[in-house]
Amino acid sequence: MRLEDILFSQGFGTRRVCAGLIQQGHVQVNGETIVDAGQWFDLEDLRFQVQGQEWPFAAQAYVMLNKPAGTECSQKPSTWPSIYTLLPAPLRQRPQKAAVQGVQAVGRLDQDTTGLLLLTDDGKFIHKMSSPKHHVPKVYEVTTKHPVTADMVARLLSGVVLDDDPRPVKAAACEAVGDLHLKLTLTEGKYHQVKRMLAAVGNRVEALHRSQIGGLVLSDLAPGQWRWLSEQDLALLKP
Ligand code: URA
Repeated sequence: MRLEDILFSQGFGTRRVCAGLIQQGHVQVNGETIVDAGQWFDLEDLRFQVQGQEWPFAAQAYVMLNKPAGTECSQKPSTWPSIYTLLPAPLRQRPQKAAVQGVQAVGRLDQDTTGLLLLTDDGKFIHKMSSPKHHVPKVYEVTTKHPVTADMVARLLSGVVLDDDPRPVKAAACEAVGDLHLKLTLTEGKYHQVKRMLAAVGNRVEALHRSQIGGLVLSDLAPGQWRWLSEQDLALLKP
């Protein structure tokens, strides 16, 4: 692919902006500054630098973010800063494929929830991961207001009824990991599900952190940091 088209496909701006970046000497491939915007490169394992920053070529982008508290998973947040402000511009500006421009969050976490959030520009992946048929387990670390009792754990495992559906929802796994701490695994993603399940058993969520989706564990990333997902990471998300 031509270098100008490569940069365009990776979200570095319009073709004209990308050509300008190249012609002004801001782009390196294999350590060499390339000033010919039309030069061809093989996309396999291609890495390049733009203004000193290293980028891999990714036909589709899949990343994980350690969502900090006090951020909204919305492009147009109402109260808190958007999680999208934590991502570099190219990830947000990757050209539109289907209805999706840039990477989008795979499901949402509440403003005050922290931890593992996936983002991608692969609309099919978002659809598949969000489908109720795709029971990929999500692990939440819950800090509770009141002590966790054996009865609460038993009720969360056997099923509790929430206000919007008469069918009980149950945790796929649940264990007390401290007096005020629970580890809860859910396979659905209903609105405020953890908070409502805890309320249904007479407790209250003080802090909520998602640590795992499928076999993929949140990396050692500081809150607000992100990283690319590898093929191996993606394989861990298959049910
Ligand atoms: N359940 C909740 O209540 N909130 C979240 O952010 C995620 C799951």
